[in-house]
Amino acid sequence: MAIADDLSALQKQALSALAEAEGAERLAEWKTVYLGKKGQLTQLSRSLGAIAAEQRPAAGQAFNAAREALEAALADREARVRYGDQLNAFEADQVDITMPGRQPEVGRIHPVNQTLREIFDIFGDMGFQIWESPEVETDELNYGLLNFPPDHPARDMQDTFYVETPPGTEPVVLRTHTSAGQIHAMRRYAPEPIRVVLPGKCYRNEQVSYRSEVQFSQFEFLAVGRNITLADMKGTLGAMAERLFGPGTKVRLRPSYFPFTEPSAEMDVSCFLCSGKGCRICKYSGWLEIGGCGMVHPNVLRNGGYDPAEFSGFAGGFGPERITILKYGIDDIRWFLSGDERLLEQFG
Ligand code: DAH
Repeated sequence: MAIADDLSALQKQALSALAEAEGAERLAEWKTVYLGKKGQLTQLSRSLGAIAAEQRPAAGQAFNAAREALEAALADREARVRYGDQLNAFEADQVDITMPGRQPEVGRIHPVNQTLREIFDIFGDMGFQIWESPEVETDELNYGLLNFPPDHPARDMQDTFYVETPPGTEPVVLRTHTSAGQIHAMRRYAPEPIRVVLPGKCYRNEQVSYRSEVQFSQFEFLAVGRNITLADMKGTLGAMAERLFGPGTKVRLRPSYFPFTEPSAEMDVSCFLCSGKGCRICKYSGWLEIGGCGMVHPNVLRNGGYDPAEFSGFAGGFGPERITILKYGIDDIRWFLSGDERLLEQFG
């Protein structure tokens, strides 16, 4: 049957032309030439009228099958032209689509920052705002304005890193404590009352050991207003301790000395591990020392812009590393800056 031969010759020719067609334009042309309304397949189908009626259905089906086959070949060719490289790799079995995808690495909040955030929440609920202040300070802000007279032996309580500055200019230090931020905060708001917490990194030129690092964090709280008393401080600290370490935690203040507070105290909390009965962590004392505090010294109030005859305040500072160490039983402060994922992965 001549028409069948013509059809298969046309199909063959179309397929070989298709295999050589590159690019979207060539493909569109090919489509017009072979499958278009005036294309070769349509033209050949006109000769269907000339064949015997009983052969016509079979011939018609052969035409439909040829059209479908060419359309499918076109779709295939289009995909290959567009996604060639990927399809080739796919067929060469280089891509295993059943392989599980790569899990993205998810970061975590550092345990010390988790402690800080807990503390922010607690103080935030009591009306304190978070205040950040510089890590590099003048000696004056770190010491002088906090009532450390020049050459006062209290400066030796903290081993200081001095920053090199041109001769004749003010000495500059890496802050040794967040207390330096107190002056910034007071000067910003005086004579309005303030309640602030000042978190951040501090630096001391200390021998590195399991208990101390050269860089560490601190967290300072400061409240200044009219009629603020030591009882307010104790109440604030008691509320903080119960939320941070668990209900029933008690606070104990022991007289101490800091140049910037008078009176000054060391702050202990009842040991939350043994509920004050005595254990290895609290060295069988029932108490854990967590920071220093006191009533803001009148000179410091004055340097901050408040009249000590009218205003009073309390302040204190803690080490979030120490609190984290106690809470989670971590045995060495150096873990925190080690970047060791074995530690960090434990804190989701
Ligand atoms: N700045 C002190 C330190 O680093 C801690 C401290 C003690 C802060 C008493 C205070 C305070 O605000 O009142 O050791």
